[in-house]
Amino acid sequence: MPNHVAFLALRRWGASVASGDRALTTCRAIVLPCFGGPQVLQVRDDSVLPELGGSDVLVRTHAVGVNPLDMRMREGYGRSLFEPLLPLVLGRDVSGEVTAVGSNVRHFRVGDQVFGALHPTATRGTYSDYAILGEEQLAPKPESLSHAEAAAIPFASLTAWRALRSTAKIKKGQKVLIMGGGGAVGLAGISLAKAAGCYVACTCGKRSMEKVKEAGAEEAVDYTAPDFKDQFRERFDVVLDTIGLPETEASGIDLLKRGGQYMTLQGQTVTYTDKYGLLAGGAAAAAALVQKQMQYGQSHGIEYWWPIMRTDAEGLEEICRLASDGRLKIPVGKTFPLESAAEAHHARDSKSVNGKVVLEVDGTI
Ligand SMILES: NC(=O)c1ccc[n+]([C@@H]2O[C@H](COP(=O)([O-])OP(=O)(O)OC[C@H]3O[C@@H](n4cnc5c(N)ncnc54)[C@H](OP(=O)(O)O)[C@@H]3O)[C@@H](O)[C@H]2O)c1
Repeated sequence: MPNHVAFLALRRWGASVASGDRALTTCRAIVLPCFGGPQVLQVRDDSVLPELGGSDVLVRTHAVGVNPLDMRMREGYGRSLFEPLLPLVLGRDVSGEVTAVGSNVRHFRVGDQVFGALHPTATRGTYSDYAILGEEQLAPKPESLSHAEAAAIPFASLTAWRALRSTAKIKKGQKVLIMGGGGAVGLAGISLAKAAGCYVACTCGKRSMEKVKEAGAEEAVDYTAPDFKDQFRERFDVVLDTIGLPETEASGIDLLKRGGQYMTLQGQTVTYTDKYGLLAGGAAAAAALVQKQMQYGQSHGIEYWWPIMRTDAEGLEEICRLASDGRLKIPVGKTFPLESAAEAHHARDSKSVNGKVVLEVDGTI
C-alpha cells in the first residue's frame, strides 16, 4: 500500500462494506481550492473519502481520462452548483481495481478490474488514488485495453450514447452527421452510429482524417475548408454537433432533412444557472430551449435538443462490448502522472496534444 495513503481510522467500513480490514478515510487527490488556471490545482494527501453507500464501489484508481468538462469546471463552469463545495476533486473517468464494495453490490468483487464514469454533477471526482462510483457506473475493463486506454473511453462515449441512442434513438439505415468527429465524443459517436447500422459522415480537422475513417466514418469533411457544407451531397436524419458554435449550429441545421434531429453538446443550462442561480436559471434555460425548438420547428421542420451526459448501465454495457471487440477506440494522445494534473491541463488548454490526455496513477499501468 503506498505511503501517501492515510489510514486514519481503525473502524471497518462497517457491515455495509466487504473489504480489507482497515477503513480508508483519506487519500491523495488533486484538489481544486478555487476556480482559475491550471496552476490552482493542488496535490493533497488528506482528501476525505466519503463513506461507501450500499450500492457504491471503491476503486483503486490506475488511470483517469481528462475531459473538457474538467477544464471548464476548473475555470468556474457550474459555479452555481460547485462553488459552495470547494475544494473539489475534479475528474469523471476512471479505470482501476475494485478494493471495496457496498452491501448491495452484486456484480463486482474486490480485485475486479473496472472502468466507468461519474455523472457531470458528481461532487467528488476521480483525480484521486481512490474513487467512489455507483455499481451501475462501472463495467469490467476490456482485457485487451490498458488502464490508460480504458480511462479514455467512458465519459465521452456515454455522452455520445446519450445523444444518439437515448435522445435521437438512431436506427439502422439512417444518415448521421457528427460535427467534431475527431474528438473523443465524435469518435465514440461514429462507432456507436456504425454499430447501430447507420451511414456516418463527419466534420473534422486534417489531423483527424485517418482516425475518423478508422472509426468507420464513410465521409469526412475538413471543417476548415470554406465550402465544407457544400461537400455533403445528401441531407441527414440526425446531426450531433459536439462543437456547438453559432456557425456549426447553422450549418448542422441546414444539413438536416425535414423531420431530422439536431443535437448540440453546448446546451445553455449551466450558463443560465451560473448567471441567474439554480432555480431562475433552470427556468430561463428551459424557456430558451423551448424557444429554439419552436423556432427551428417552424423554419426547418426539425427537432432541436441539448443532450447532457448521463451515466447509463445499458449504454456502458454496449460501450464495453464494442471496446472489447476493438470497434470503439479513443486514442490516447499523451499520459501524465496524476500529480502532474496541472501540466496535463496546460497541455489540453494549449491544444498541443492530438488525442485524449490521461492521468496515470503511480506507474500502475
Ligand atoms: N453536453 C454534455 O454533457 C457534454 C459531455 C461531454 C463533452 N461535451 C462537450 O463536447 C465537446 C467535445 O468533447 P470531446 O471530449 O470530444 O473533446 P475533444 O476530445 O477535445 O475534441 C474536440 C475536437 O473538436 C474538434 N473541432 C474543433 N473545432 C471544430 C469545428 N469547428 N468543427 C469540427 N470539429 C472541430 C477538434 O478536432 P480536430 O482535432 O479534428 O481539429 C477536436 O479534436 C466539448 O466542448 C465538451 O465540453 C459536452
